[in-house]
Order: sequence, then C-alpha cells, then structure tokens
Amino acid sequence: MAQIDIKNFMQENFKIEDFTHLNWSGTFQDYLDIVSEDPRVARNSFQRVHDMIMSFGTSNYTEYKKDIVRYHFFDDPINNGKDAVFGIDVHLMKFVNFFKAASAGYGTEKRVLLLHGPVGSAKSSIARNLKQGLEHYSKTDDGRMFTFEWYDQEESDILGGQKLFPSPMHEEPFKLIPVEVRKQFLDNLNKGRKDGEVKINIKGEVNPADRYILNQYMMKYDGDWMKVMENHIRVKRLLLSEKDRIGIGTFQPKDEKNQDSTELTGDINYRKIALYGSDSDPRAFNFDGEFNIANRGIVEFIEMLKLDVAFLYDLLGASQEQSIKPKKFSQTDIDEVILGHTNEPEFRKLQSNEFMEALRDRTVKIDVPYITRLDQEVKIYQKDFNGDTIPHMHIAPHTLDVASMWAILTRLEEPKKADLTKLQKLKLYNGKTLPGYNEDNVKELRKEAIREGLDGISPRYIQDKISNSLVKNSHAGCLNPFMVFNELESGLKHHGLISSPDQLDHFREMLAVTRQEYEDIVKNDVQKAISVDETAIQTLCANYIDHVKAYTQKEKIRNKYSGKLEDADERFLRSIEEKIDIPESRKDDFRREIMNYIGALAIEGKQFDYKMNERLHRALELKLFEDQKDSIKLTTIISNVVDKATQEKIDVIKTRLIKNFGYCEICSTDALNFVASIFAKGDSIKS
Ligand SMILES: Nc1ncnc2c1ncn2[C@@H]1O[C@H](COP(=O)(O)OP(=O)(O)O)[C@@H](O)[C@H]1O
Ligand SMILES: [Mg+2]
Repeated sequence: MAQIDIKNFMQENFKIEDFTHLNWSGTFQDYLDIVSEDPRVARNSFQRVHDMIMSFGTSNYTEYKKDIVRYHFFDDPINNGKDAVFGIDVHLMKFVNFFKAASAGYGTEKRVLLLHGPVGSAKSSIARNLKQGLEHYSKTDDGRMFTFEWYDQEESDILGGQKLFPSPMHEEPFKLIPVEVRKQFLDNLNKGRKDGEVKINIKGEVNPADRYILNQYMMKYDGDWMKVMENHIRVKRLLLSEKDRIGIGTFQPKDEKNQDSTELTGDINYRKIALYGSDSDPRAFNFDGEFNIANRGIVEFIEMLKLDVAFLYDLLGASQEQSIKPKKFSQTDIDEVILGHTNEPEFRKLQSNEFMEALRDRTVKIDVPYITRLDQEVKIYQKDFNGDTIPHMHIAPHTLDVASMWAILTRLEEPKKADLTKLQKLKLYNGKTLPGYNEDNVKELRKEAIREGLDGISPRYIQDKISNSLVKNSHAGCLNPFMVFNELESGLKHHGLISSPDQLDHFREMLAVTRQEYEDIVKNDVQKAISVDETAIQTLCANYIDHVKAYTQKEKIRNKYSGKLEDADERFLRSIEEKIDIPESRKDDFRREIMNYIGALAIEGKQFDYKMNERLHRALELKLFEDQKDSIKLTTIISNVVDKATQEKIDVIKTRLIKNFGYCEICSTDALNFVASIFAKGDSIKS
C-alpha cells in the first residue's frame, strides 16, 4: 500500500477556499447585492428544481414520429449513473413539465406531484435523483441559496439566553422585509427585467419563531427595521442536506394506527418550555417536522396513500395553500416541492373512495410504468452487474439480455392481431422491422395495450435473482443464462406479488419462450463463429452471384474444375436461398432484386459486398455452416472421443467465440456443448 502524507494530500485535494466559499456569510445588504447581480439566487423551490434538471442538458430523438427529449439529469451524472433511469422518457418529460409549469407559476406549484406505478418501477429512484440533485445544486455557484441567523453581542433574552439563533426553517432572507413595503421593494428589484427573465417574488412571512424574534427586536429599536438587520441578522449560504435534515425531507408512514401530526409539522420542546415559560412561545417549538425541515427544497412521501386519510387532507392542504399549521401556532408559509409516490395496487384500492376526488383535484399524477423496450431494460442490469461490481465473475453473452427479455415478455399484453406473437411484439418495440409492420402499426400496438407496463415482473425481482445466481455460482467463474433461468424459475414459487395461478402460468410460459429464443441465439453465435471465415464467405458469395447472373441473363457459366460451359447450377442456388425460406415461386424476384442492386452499384462505380444485403449474408452464413458442420463434427464433442484434427477445428471456433462474441473460456465451451447437443438431437440448423 502507498504511503500518504496527510498534510500534502489535504492541501492538494481539500481546498480551504471551497470551504470558505460555501460558508460565506454577510449582511442583508450584501445579500441584496448578490441577488441584484444574480436574481436566480432568490428562486423558489420549483424554479430551482427545474433549473437544476435543465442544467445537465438535454438531447432529442424521435420515436414513432414523436419528438422526445432526454434529460441528461436522469443519467444520474452526480453519482456516475448509479441511479440512472432508463426507457421511460415520455413519462419523465411529463415529470419535468410539471416543474416547468410550476416554476412559471401556472398553478402546478399548488399540487402534490404523485408518482404512480407498479412495484419497482423507479419511483424511488426518480425521487432519489431529485433529492440528490438538489443537494448537489445548492453547493454549486449556479444553485446557491441563502438563509439567515439571528445573533446578538451578548446572550440575549430575545434569543433565549443565546448569542445565536438560526432561522428554524432556514427561511429566505427576503421574507424579513415587512409585508407593507414588499410590493415596492420587488418592483424596484425587478425593474428592467424583461419577460422570460427571472423575476423575484417573495411569498408569505417567516415562521412563528422568526416572526416573534423580529417583533421583539423591532420593539427594542422602536421600529427601526434597518437597525435590527444591521445588528442582528447574518445572511448565510444555505447548503441542502438530507442527512442534516436541511431542505430535504422524507416521510414514510409507519403504523397506520400510530400516525402523529408532529412528525410532519413539528412539536413542542418540553425542555425549552421551562426556559421560555410558556408552551405558546414559538421559540419553544421544534420546527423539525418533515414539512418544516424541507422548506426551500423538497419533501418526499413514500407510499403516500398509506397515510391516514386525515393526514392526507393535511398534505393536500399544505400543497394547495403552500402553508402548514404547526400545533398551537398560526399557518406557516412553506416553499417546497411535495413529491409523493404510490404503488399501482394501492392506488386502485382507493379508486372508489370519496377521498379520491380531492386527491385527483390536488395532485398531478405521473405514471411511472415498467420499461417495455428490451434495449432499455438491459441497461438496468448492465449498470448493476459489471466488471466494477463483480470483478471476479464473467457474465456470458446474452445472460442479461434474456433475463430482460423475460421481464418484458411478462409485461406485454397479448397483441390483438392473432398472427403476432408476444416475442415478435417485443422485437417490434425494440426497433426491429417485421414485414407488414411500420412505425404507425407499432404505435397502434402500443395504443391498444392499455395496461402495458403496469403488470408483470419488476426489475427488482430480476436484480435479486441475478444476484442470487451470482452468489450460488461464484465457484464457476462465469454466469450463464441457464443459471439465471433456473433462479428466475424457482423464485416464482415464492413470489409474493403473483396474484393468480393464471399469472404464474403466464410467467412460466414466457420463460419457456425466452429459453427457446436463447437456444436460437446461442446456436446463431456458434454458426457465425464457424462461418466467420471472411474469405470463405466471400468466395461463396462470388460463386452465388456468378450463377445468379448466368441464370437471369440465360448465359452459360464456365465450370471452374472441368473448364466446360454449363447452365447455372440450380441446386447450388436453391441450397442457399432455402436457408432463408425463399420459396420456389419467389426465387426469381430475389435473384432479380440482387442483380438490380449490383447493377445500380456498378453505375456508381461501386462493388457489391455480401454485407450489403442482410438476408443474403445470413443465407451465406448458414450455407457455409452447413458445409463445414460435418467436417468439424461438432456433435462428437459430446461423445468425448474427439480426434486431434477435430479438436483443432473446435479450438478455432472457440477462439472466435472468445475474440468476436465476448465469450470466455468457460462459456464458450458451454455454448459449444449446448449447440452440439441440439444438433445431436437432429435439430434443423435453421434459425
Ligand atoms: N426505468 C428504470 N430505469 C433504471 N432503473 C430502473 C428502472 N425501473 C426500475 N429500475 C431499477 O429497479 C429497482 C427498483 O426501483 P425503485 O426506484 O426502488 O422502484 P419503486 O420505488 O418504483 O418501487 C432499482 O434498482 C432501479 O434502479
Ligand atoms: Mg419505492
């Protein structure tokens, strides 16, 4: 281990300037100067959250002809992507739009933002992103914000015998400006700011404790507000911190019977009553309820609908009025985002409740469904299980893909078109093209499936089962799809969220579909590894083209071996075309299409390459594989008597699997054995 000189290390890495910068304090006038220069400092919580999200930038793409914005914030750059949210951009757009409207004051700032979706659909992840994002933003210059504390030269009765009294709800300093002169103050401050630029607004009054102290000092100085500010107010940088309970709150209902409003709006501090002599003295009150501490930032309500109904009304009221009512004190203004989440089943339970109407009125519900796009779902597990998180274990190719595939299959609704399988639907959703389906059809498919993404297997189940299989198979050094399939399957018996035997059957059926698909995928890899020989495939291609040309132009072709002129070899042509199911009746079209393409290329002075035609490419691969399969004697692998020549050929294939397809020593052997066993059973080599 390296030696560290702690003094040097700290000097280089831990900057004192940063610390003093973040711990800035100054006078009220200093603060006013800062705000005049950068009015963003005095933004409200909604504006700050919106700007924070936007500060990470966006990019655009289209899906089903719809313009979609990806907010890079949801890549979780703050935590190196640990909490990134994938595949639900359309819903995240609605989420961000809520903040956009609220920051412009269009009314959503008076609503509870309610995330709604099935269990494990990233609701908590989104909330975590937001809380951490805001915490981080408050530490940057762009996101800086301020509060104040009261101070006195001597221990002062007004401050309860202390010299210092921090604003208990870390209030915005401008809230100290008397209401009588607010409008004028704001008019002056905002003068010259154009439409669309940040305009400062101050809403409401400081909390009861701050108000009490302000009044006391005002009396002491005979109403000279400026003297109070100059002698007793110190403005400070405000750094939000969930751990320190500053500006970020989280509330999780515990026992349904045992909910107490003090957890939300604070409580009397009995120790301090002795000091202040009365329980109605606001300085004897702890403004430490979740709503209090979250002032200026965000409060998250986990499983919001598990709250007692009386509480829920309080909560809706708090958002509507943007104020709360601490026990024994008057309404107290708050400036915070109220974010709740609820699971789909819980939400449904309330559907018939009369309370629902109030809820619908005062919440903005954002659906957070499961991902239904394979390549997005895979990203979750790639993030969870990679070389950093599991350094000593290789993951065989397709392992995470097939787990994702199964998850998505369980979430898809049966397509109404009888000839479309769920697996095909999955592929269409994943951007693959199928004959007879264009973007509009796929959009239709999505539209007809109303509950899609609200049911099925959650990512959490997949994560747990992959983790389990990693632990169970750690001795193997490589995790393959079979291990994961087994774990996914055996876990179903104890899956707490499976509601009916039908659902269980459906999940198992989809697992069988996925296993079958994996069989095809791995077969495909081995076939490709065998036929990856570039020159062989090029030669085969050139041969095919020569014969197609002779066929379409009714010419003779010279036999390479005998030197004789012959007709095009129909058997050879068909042996390739049949690999991709081109029927006799369509062969002419296919051949003509290829010749036309080659002709068009020739006009441009370009040469045909087999990679230009995906179907032909595949056909050539399969043909090459068929030709070589017997010479390689793949099936002998499983008989354990492999001669030297065969072993050498097999080793070449193995090396290709490792070099070109991401296999390791272990899983390439597994794959070859598996495919050999399929062929031994006499399976067709077509995929
Ligand atoms: N769309 C998604 N993008 C990224 N990860 C996801 C997504 N959906 C679920 N997850 C993962 O699934 C797990 C459960 O998510 P969580 O946020 O706790 O769900 P919820 O709060 O909705 O029950 C987390 O590890 C999360 O990363
Ligand atoms: Mg959650």
